[in-house]
Amino acid sequence: MDTYELNKWAGAVLAAGLLLMVISEIGNLVVHPKTLKETAIAVAVPEEAGAPSSPAAPAEKAVPLPELLAAADATRGAAIAKRCTSCHTFDKGGKNLVGPNLFAVAGRDPGKVAGFSYSSAITGLGKPWSWENLDAYLNDPKGFAPGTKMAFAGVKKSAERADLLAYLKQNHDSPPAFPAK
Ligand code: HEC
Repeated sequence: MDTYELNKWAGAVLAAGLLLMVISEIGNLVVHPKTLKETAIAVAVPEEAGAPSSPAAPAEKAVPLPELLAAADATRGAAIAKRCTSCHTFDKGGKNLVGPNLFAVAGRDPGKVAGFSYSSAITGLGKPWSWENLDAYLNDPKGFAPGTKMAFAGVKKSAERADLLAYLKQNHDSPPAFPAK
């Protein structure tokens, strides 16, 4: 191979390299590499217990909250509260984690735990944490308080929410009474 031949090959290799660079640049322009808008924090949330509910499952029969609360059980609630403990403590004087400490939350105004920085979705709710409001928030956090930074899908089974409320009632100095049947 003479020098001219070598140069031809070297040139071809260079040209191929350049072409690749150009193609990948165009690729970037066309596809827009994604940047995350918010910082993603992975939080381990235990799976919902029990069988996955299929969309074809019959709708849950609506039992009124007072009735559910009359049958609620704080011990079962403690087990369900494990879904919250990656973000919340429930004991008196417990630390704020990703979410505020939840001791004695029932009956008080939203967004009152000292040292926790709430979203305006919570501080602007304008109604106290009655049992009904807690039930609604825990069923569908983003539906009840649009814009809340509680990244939690909710507890979809109303009987499980009632157990959870019984657990919140237990973690309280002077809890409000459950609504009468
Ligand atoms: C991924 C973390 C996370 C999980 C899981 C979570 N929460 Fe929260 N929670 C938060 C955050 C963050 C806030 C503050 C929301 C805001 O300011 O918008 C909050 C707020 C709340 C509040 C309002 C407190 C107050 O002082 O006004 C209640 C009540 C609550 N959570 C209950 C629960 C319960 C009960 C569970 C479990 C069934 C749960 N949360 C699961 C993060 C979480």
